[in-house]
Amino acid sequence: MPKLAIRGGEPLVKRQLGKSWPIFDGREERALLEVLRSGHWWRGGMDPSESKVSQFEDRFASYCQAKYGIAVTNGTQALECALKAAGVEAGDEVIVPALTFVATATSVALVNAVPVIVDVDPRTYNISIQAIEDAITDRTRAIIPVHNGGFPCDMDRIMEIAQRHDLMVIEDCAHAHGSEYKGRRCGSIGHLSAFSFQQGKVMTSGEGGIVLTSDPELAEKAYSFMHIGRMPGRPFYEFHRLASNLRMTEWQGAVLLCQLERLDEQVRRREENARYLAEGLKEIPGVEPLVDQDMWGEGKFCTRWSFYYWNFRYRQEEFDGIHRDKFIEALKAEGVPVGIGAHGEPIYRNPLFQNMNFGRTGCPIRCPLYGKDMDYRKVFCPEAERIYREEALSLPHAVFLGDRKDMDLILDAIRKVRENADELRE
Ligand SMILES: Cc1ncc(COP(=O)(O)O)c(C=O)c1O
Repeated sequence: MPKLAIRGGEPLVKRQLGKSWPIFDGREERALLEVLRSGHWWRGGMDPSESKVSQFEDRFASYCQAKYGIAVTNGTQALECALKAAGVEAGDEVIVPALTFVATATSVALVNAVPVIVDVDPRTYNISIQAIEDAITDRTRAIIPVHNGGFPCDMDRIMEIAQRHDLMVIEDCAHAHGSEYKGRRCGSIGHLSAFSFQQGKVMTSGEGGIVLTSDPELAEKAYSFMHIGRMPGRPFYEFHRLASNLRMTEWQGAVLLCQLERLDEQVRRREENARYLAEGLKEIPGVEPLVDQDMWGEGKFCTRWSFYYWNFRYRQEEFDGIHRDKFIEALKAEGVPVGIGAHGEPIYRNPLFQNMNFGRTGCPIRCPLYGKDMDYRKVFCPEAERIYREEALSLPHAVFLGDRKDMDLILDAIRKVRENADELRE
């Protein structure tokens, strides 16, 4: 009789792991009703101190140890807004990692610049420092480090490179609300940062985003790019920049204020469970935590790991030569919602890049203002490819909102697959 669920055996996990997402209670319900009854459904036309969006901007910026917050419609437009505030324009290059959500790169093209997609560091799955150095040209204007899975990028080295080459740094914090790099909150270290509050993220209003910065000039520009080119303190019908309407609604602001109240406790619980899981994984041959205790903990590289997906690793050579994808299928059949990282394949593999689908003119990639030859069909990042095809494993954040029993079930399910690996070969 086969033991593994994928072969017809009984699944080991027979209930939902962690919590269902999103989480809300009477606080969100009351906050939404308050906005409804107030008649103020957008952020304009009232004293900023009364606007839920303005309150959220201040509170979230201060939570992330930044001075200014500019709330916007979603994470993609947060990146676009930050890029515009950073002065990125046609003909500029912006360095982005290969393992991320496609918006990290498409936001660059949407502001008429050229995304330069580079490899990741196999130790953390974050942008490789060497790859950044190698990609810098006289066209480079900015770098977008993504804290992949919420694990911080090496921000000291990135800021040092940026200073040396006079580049802007925009942290993509869509996975990292509350994560810390050497005691500093992600989103407060680069010149600007961008967050997403889309439904799956660890704080959500369905859709939403925010730009953070501690530089008053950049904050003023980001505000202007969020608000159709208006300037704070100037007449309402006076427009200073070519800009869209990226305003967040009061509904979103009200919900996010409530979500922020829950964040610390959720981060604490997730991190405690992830630590326990990481310890357990070390005892099972063929799987291992992404980073060791020397990189994660008090006084270390990552002092707080708030994650969207928790990345860990597969080692085929220690798993009887069975391919990672077979392991994933088997573990899923046991009832564990395991995946391969937040967004799958290296972003240059998307049809957009492979077909060089940049419209009739080909701008901004094939553009006289750029004048260089960028062909994404020639981009190949060996580490990102290997990680995507053979190594990456991940679990979604809501799984970690349960208790130790959930972690024990995950470990038991992995052990079960490991012990019956021969069934996967048939
Ligand atoms: C790394 C990263 N950047 C940007 C975004 C874009 O955010 P949004 O979906 O809110 O536009 C996401 C969304 O998943 C993301 O994961």
